[in-house]
Amino acid sequence: MIIHKIAVIAGDGIGPEVIAEGVKVLNEVAEIAGDFSFEFTYFPWGCEYYLEHGTMMSDDGLEQLKNFDAVYLGAVGYLGVPDHISLRELLLKIRKQFDQYVNVRPVRLLQGAPCPLKDVTRDQIDMVIIRENSEGEYSGAGDWLFKGKPEEVVLQTGVFSRKGTERIIRYAYELAREKGRSLTSISKGNALNYSMVFWDQVFEEIGSEYPDVKTRSCLVDAASMYFVKQPERFQIVVTSNLFGDIITDLGAAIAGGMGLAAGANLNPERIHPSMFEPIHGSAPDIAHQGIANPLAAIWSASQMLDFFGHGKWGAKVLDVIEQVMVDKKALTPDMGGTASTADVGAEVVALLAALQTKHV
Ligand code: NAI
Ligand code: MG
Repeated sequence: MIIHKIAVIAGDGIGPEVIAEGVKVLNEVAEIAGDFSFEFTYFPWGCEYYLEHGTMMSDDGLEQLKNFDAVYLGAVGYLGVPDHISLRELLLKIRKQFDQYVNVRPVRLLQGAPCPLKDVTRDQIDMVIIRENSEGEYSGAGDWLFKGKPEEVVLQTGVFSRKGTERIIRYAYELAREKGRSLTSISKGNALNYSMVFWDQVFEEIGSEYPDVKTRSCLVDAASMYFVKQPERFQIVVTSNLFGDIITDLGAAIAGGMGLAAGANLNPERIHPSMFEPIHGSAPDIAHQGIANPLAAIWSASQMLDFFGHGKWGAKVLDVIEQVMVDKKALTPDMGGTASTADVGAEVVALLAALQTKHV
């Protein structure tokens, strides 16, 4: 029996609400599968913790996390704690220190998912966005000079190392080759004359090792337009940290909304734990009402199953998410339903259990 040890950082706002349902789903899958199980350890870190202790996580937090197989994260950020503190001192710290340099965000229009675009069929929105997750515009480098003075100057430096740029682009090429899909690089070489010219150059250099992969390059502004007008242009996409952050929210919007968008932060070498999370935030506007959509957190759980080599089960969880949206019996208000977060989780668990009895 394989035991997967998971560190759970449920975080703030709707984080704990949606993660609770993801945990139920993972436990159900393990019970049905029979040959693996999960051991969850909960960490109380986040904004409430910050208000009490003055730090977002324990000082030895990373030390405590390092021996887990994965981190399952809800959302961090809440009123009363500046967002740049909550984000940088927990989420970005984990991503960076654990070298989770690949952020995988599927943008796929599942059956039954609401789509705001007109006349779009499911096969037209089916992409995987590979976002650089360890440096770039979010490196945190910069300076704030002459603070508060008339000559005040602020510098926010993008850091694009050869190692960092090559490894993310190579990861994307490998994925495109494995899946037999095209690869689009999204950049902005016309305006960012150092970082993005370099990015484009590396994209081409690495491309010479993958003559079988069909490639395209697209400026980020044009890409935003095509996401809406012709999403079928994109299959595998590789882009920088900031651009990836922005276009994946756009991707989420065209493929079912924030309540359905999942993301994985991977350390592909598996030296450090990887982290799985819905891409939405803590949604203070709907927190503590029990109406947050848990499907994004459940989709992230399915990504975790894939990463652990249980691809068959990851796919079943996705099938069940589709089933829930097609049946429309248990949907939260953001998807036009009246169900609670727990109702949706229970429905997913029930459908998984039913799948099982069907197969026996
Ligand atoms: P948000 O994603 O929390 O909310 C945006 C909108 O989407 C809200 O109207 C919210 O109600 C809705 N929404 C989000 N997730 C939903 C779900 N599962 N079900 C139903 N509706 C959902 O983004 P916002 O409002 O910009 O940020 C709120 C806080 O979350 C901030 O403190 C921010 O820093 C933090 N944040 C944290 C992230 C993380 O932990 N990965 C990511 C993004 C934001
Ligand atoms: Mg974001």
